[in-house]
Amino acid sequence: MRRERALFLLLLLLHLHHHICASKEEQEHGCPPSSCGKITNISYPFRLEGDPEKCGNKRYEVGCENNVTVLYLHSAKYHVQAINYKNYTVRVVDPALQLHNCSSLPLRSLSRSNFSDTYSYYSNGSYQAGLDSGINGESLIFEHIVFLSCNHSVRENGKYVKTEEYVKWDSKGYAYAVVGDLKAEDIEVGCDIKLVAPTSLRSFNNHSYTSMHSSLAYGFQISWLQLACQTHNFCSDGFCYFNFASQKLDCK
Ligand SMILES: *[C@@H]1O[C@H](CO)[C@@H](O)[C@H](O)[C@H]1NC(C)=O
Ligand SMILES: *[C@@H]1O[C@H](CO)[C@@H](O)[C@H](O)[C@H]1NC(C)=O
Ligand SMILES: *[C@@H]1O[C@H](CO)[C@@H](O)[C@H](O)[C@H]1NC(C)=O
Ligand SMILES: *[C@@H]1O[C@H](CO)[C@@H](O)[C@H](O)[C@H]1NC(C)=O
Ligand SMILES: *[C@@H]1O[C@H](CO)[C@@H](O)[C@H](O)[C@H]1NC(C)=O
Ligand SMILES: *[C@@H]1O[C@H](CO)[C@@H](O)[C@H](O)[C@H]1NC(C)=O
Ligand SMILES: *[C@@H]1O[C@H](CO)[C@@H](O)[C@H](O)[C@H]1NC(C)=O
Ligand SMILES: *[C@@H]1O[C@H](CO)[C@@H](O)[C@H](O)[C@H]1NC(C)=O
Repeated sequence: MRRERALFLLLLLLHLHHHICASKEEQEHGCPPSSCGKITNISYPFRLEGDPEKCGNKRYEVGCENNVTVLYLHSAKYHVQAINYKNYTVRVVDPALQLHNCSSLPLRSLSRSNFSDTYSYYSNGSYQAGLDSGINGESLIFEHIVFLSCNHSVRENGKYVKTEEYVKWDSKGYAYAVVGDLKAEDIEVGCDIKLVAPTSLRSFNNHSYTSMHSSLAYGFQISWLQLACQTHNFCSDGFCYFNFASQKLDCK
C-alpha cells in the first residue's frame, strides 16, 4: 500500500514537472513558425499578425502585406529581409528603397539617435542599435550614410561623394553623400543635412554613390538583445551583451 502510494506520488510529481516545463517551453517555442514571403521562420519573440494569442511577444508583431513581412519601428514601416535568431538581429529595409534605382531614397531618416540604447544601458524600446547596449557607442550594428545639400561645390573634402546624377535636393544646389558620422569639421559651411540612412553592409566602395546606394538597399540590422537578456535573466548583476567571438550572450 505504502509503496503504491509512493509510486503514485512519484508519477504525479513527474507529471507536474512535465506540465510546468511544457508551459514554459510553449511560451517560447511551442508555436510552429509562421511564414510570409521569403521569411519562412517567424518564431519567438516574433509573432505574425493573426497568430494565436499565446505565440510570440506582442511588441514584436510583424504583418504580412502582399507577401512581404513588415515590421513597424517608431511607427515607420520596414520590410523584413532576414531574421537571425542566433545573434538576435533582424535585418530590415525602408520600403521606398529600390535595389537598382539609385534615385530612390528612404522615406524617413533613421540613425543611432532614434534608439535609446545609444545613450543608456536601459532602453525602453523593443529594438536596439547595438549588441552591447550602451556600454560604448562603438558597437553599432549599422553605419550611417548622410545626404547633404550644399550651396557650393565641395572639392576639398574627400568624404563628400557627388549624388547629383541621381539625387538632387535643390535645383541650384550641389548634392553629396558621406559615409559614417560627420564630425563638426566635416560639415562644410553652406551645407544642410537632408537625410540620414542606416546600412549594415559595410563592404561598399565609399567613393561611389551607386555602391553606397546598393548597401542602403541591402538594409540594416537592429537587435532584440535586451529582451533576450531579460528573458533568461541572464546577468543578475553586470551588463549583458552579445559576445561575437563565442556567438553567445555573455556578462561583464
Ligand atoms: C510569396 O513569396 C514566396 C517566396 O518569395 C514565393 O515562393 C511565393 O510564390 C509568393 N507567393 C505569392 C502569392 O506571390
Ligand atoms: C527557426 O527558428 C527557430 C527558433 O530560433 C530555430 O530553432 C530553428 O532552427 C529555425 N529553423 C530554420 C529552418 O531556420
Ligand atoms: C547575424 O547573423 C547573420 C547571419 O549569419 C549575419 O549576416 C549578420 O551579419 C550577423 N549580425 C551581426 C551583428 O553580427
Ligand atoms: C526611381 O526612384 C525615383 C524616386 O523615388 C522615382 O521617381 C522613379 O520613378 C523611379 N524609377 C523607376 C524606373 O522606378
Ligand atoms: C528619427 O529621429 C529623427 C530626428 O528626431 C526624426 O526626424 C525621424 O523621423 C526619426 N525616424 C523614425 C523612423 O522615427
Ligand atoms: C521611452 O522613454 C522616453 C522618455 O522617458 C519616451 O519619450 C518614449 O516615448 C519612450 N518610448 C517607448 C517606446 O516607450
Ligand atoms: C574609405 O574606405 C577606406 C577603406 O575601407 C578607408 O580606409 C577610408 O578611410 C574611407 N574613406 C572615407 C572618406 O571614409
Ligand atoms: C552658402 O551659404 C553660406 C551660409 O549660409 C554663406 O555664408 C555663403 O556665402 C554661401 N555661399 C554661396 C556660394 O552662395
